[in-house]
Amino acid sequence: MKITIVGSGYVGLVSGACFAEMGNKVTCVDIDEKKIDKLNNGIIPIFEPGLEAMVLRNIKNKNIFFTSNLANAIQDAQIVFIAVGTPMGDDGSADLQYVLAVAKSIGESMTKELVVVDKSTVPIGTADKVRTTIQNELDKRELQINFHVVSNPEFLKEGAAIDDFMKPDRVVIGADGEYAFDVMKQLYSPFFRTHDRFITMDIRSAEMTKYAANAMLATKISFMNEIANICERVGADANLVRIGIGSDKRIGYHFIYPGVGYGGACFPKDIKALQKVAEAHHYQPKIIKAVEQVNNEQKLVIANKIVKRFGEDLKGFTFGLWGLAFKPGTDDMREAPAIYVVKELTKRGAEVKAYDPKAVEEAKEFYLKGVKGISYYDSKYEVLKDADALILLTEWKEFRSPDFQEVKQQLTNPIIFDGRNQYNAFHLEQKGFEYYQIGK
Ligand SMILES: NC(=O)c1ccc[n+]([C@@H]2O[C@H](COP(=O)([O-])OP(=O)(O)OC[C@H]3O[C@@H](n4cnc5c(N)ncnc54)[C@H](O)[C@@H]3O)[C@@H](O)[C@H]2O)c1
Repeated sequence: MKITIVGSGYVGLVSGACFAEMGNKVTCVDIDEKKIDKLNNGIIPIFEPGLEAMVLRNIKNKNIFFTSNLANAIQDAQIVFIAVGTPMGDDGSADLQYVLAVAKSIGESMTKELVVVDKSTVPIGTADKVRTTIQNELDKRELQINFHVVSNPEFLKEGAAIDDFMKPDRVVIGADGEYAFDVMKQLYSPFFRTHDRFITMDIRSAEMTKYAANAMLATKISFMNEIANICERVGADANLVRIGIGSDKRIGYHFIYPGVGYGGACFPKDIKALQKVAEAHHYQPKIIKAVEQVNNEQKLVIANKIVKRFGEDLKGFTFGLWGLAFKPGTDDMREAPAIYVVKELTKRGAEVKAYDPKAVEEAKEFYLKGVKGISYYDSKYEVLKDADALILLTEWKEFRSPDFQEVKQQLTNPIIFDGRNQYNAFHLEQKGFEYYQIGK
C-alpha cells in the first residue's frame, strides 16, 4: 500500500519504518527540514533500539522516502497518517495547532480519495475538527473528493517501540464506515501472524481509549508512589509491598514500581489534557487530578532526601548523577524527573556531574541548557570522582549491577540515593554504603 506519514518523530518514524518493513511504500513528511536532510543522508535523528537498521534497510529497498513537501507526498497515497506532536498548551489542554495545520495542508492539496488517520494523541472530538478543516479547504477549491477520517491511537513505548509496533497487543481503529475499517485492516493484517487483535469502535471511543490507557498507567504509578510515601512513614518496605500486591493477578506486577515519578512525552501532557477535556464537559476528574499532584511532588522526593541528609544549603556539595532520560532505552528527556532534581539541587548551590548512555546531548542542548552547576561525563564512574553521593534516576541496564567497589572508591562518601529502587539495601549496607531509596 502507499502510505504517507506526516510528522517524523518517535511515533511517525517508527510507524513509517515498520510499515515499510512489511513491504509498503512509505513517504515520511516533516516540516523540520534539517530532520529530513538527516534522514535522507541515513542519519536517524532519535535513538530507538533497532530503528536505525530498519530505516537504512528500507531506504536501500526503496520502501521509505523522506520529504518536507506534503503536497507531493500525498499525491499517490491511499492513506495519510497524522503523527505530529500534540504538546500541552498554555492552559494544559492539548495544543492542536500542528494536527489542524496538517489537516489544512491535506485539504489544500489532496486530489483523490484518501483515508486520513489520526495517530497523534488527541482530545475527544478532534477527528470532527480534522474532517471540517479538510472539508473547508476542499470547499474553497470547489472540489468534491471523498475522504475518511480514522482514529488509530498509538500504544508503542519508547525504548521498545519497534517491538511494540511489529507485535502489537492490539490495534485500535475508530472509524465510521466499512471502507475505512477495511483499508486499515488490510494495512495492519501483516502485523498479526496467528490471530488478529483488531479492536474496532466509533471514533470518539478510540480517541478516548488512548487517554484512558495512559491515565490508567499513570494512576498505577502515582498510586504506588503514594503507598511508598506512606510506607516510609510507617516503617514498611514498599518494595516488599509491591511484590505482595503484584502477585494478585487483578493488580499485576507491571507499573507498580515506586520511584521518582513518571515523565516523558505522553503521560504528563495526556493526564493534563484529559483533565481539561473532562472540565470542558463540566466534570471534575478527581482521581486524574490527584494522579498529577502526587507525581509532581514525587519528582522531588529524592531531592528532599538529599536536603534532609546534607542540609538546605548545598553549596560545596557535589553529586554524581546516573540517568537523565525519562526512562531507559531512549534519549527522550521530555518531562524527565532528572530535570526537576538537577534544577532543585543546583538552585541550592550543588554541583551535579551527570552521565547518561544516550540523553546527554538532549540535556545539554535543550532540557538543562543554561543550568549552572551541571557538567557532563562519558563514564558512569567518572561522575562519582570526588562526589558526595551517587544519585540514580534512570534504570538503564548498565546501572543495575555496577562495580560497587569502584563506586565506593570514587565517592567521597559512600552514599547512594536510588530513585528507582534498583539495589538491595541489605547488600549495600553490608558493603558499607549509606543507602536511601523510595518507600523505605
Ligand atoms: N512518543 C511516544 O512514545 C508516543 C506514544 C504514543 C503516542 N504518542 C503521540 O504521538 C504524537 C507524536 O508524538 P512524538 O513523540 O512522535 O512527537 P515528536 O515531537 O517526536 O514528533 C513530531 C514531529 O512532527 C513534526 N511536525 C510538526 N508539525 C508538522 C507539520 N505541520 N507537518 C509536518 N511535520 C510536522 C515535528 O517537526 C516533529 O518531527 C503525539 O500526539 C504523542 O502524544 C507518542
